[in-house]
Amino acid sequence: MPVKILMVCLGNICRSPLAEGILASNLPKKNFIVDSAGTGSWHIGRQPDSRSIAIANKHKLDISKQKGRQFTKNDFDAFDYIYVMDISNYRDVVRLADNQEQINKVQLILNELFPGENVDVPDPYYGVAHGFESVFHMLDETCDVIAKKLIEKHS
Ligand code: 4NP
Repeated sequence: MPVKILMVCLGNICRSPLAEGILASNLPKKNFIVDSAGTGSWHIGRQPDSRSIAIANKHKLDISKQKGRQFTKNDFDAFDYIYVMDISNYRDVVRLADNQEQINKVQLILNELFPGENVDVPDPYYGVAHGFESVFHMLDETCDVIAKKLIEKHS
């Protein structure tokens, strides 16, 4: 059975699509499935934000085929690991959990890079274009750590 990892942000158009694309590119497809979702419902069915698609393209990743969807309670059982981008995503996701086992699956993604520091991936949606570049680099670094850990643990 493949290991399943879910990336979660607010809109599922800026940060989590990048996190999905980056982590998926670092893991063998045969053993791992990576998906993403938003806590909000505004962008269901939509393509990622054009600025996220562009920054991914610049780094040779195609995330343009992804489609926005909303996080649901079913995701707690469907996924082994749930990575959220910021503390407000954390609260919104954990609010839907039924038990401690589900809560334990949810981690702030930058805690893999900076353990215990609870650093947010800033929301670049209302910001300037270079916000996407810095978000890409944060996600790239933390996904590198995550991929190494997952490969070591699950092979
Ligand atoms: P994301 O960014 O959570 O990184 O996808 C956002 C995208 C859209 C909105 C908020 C955040 N929005 O309010 O529409």
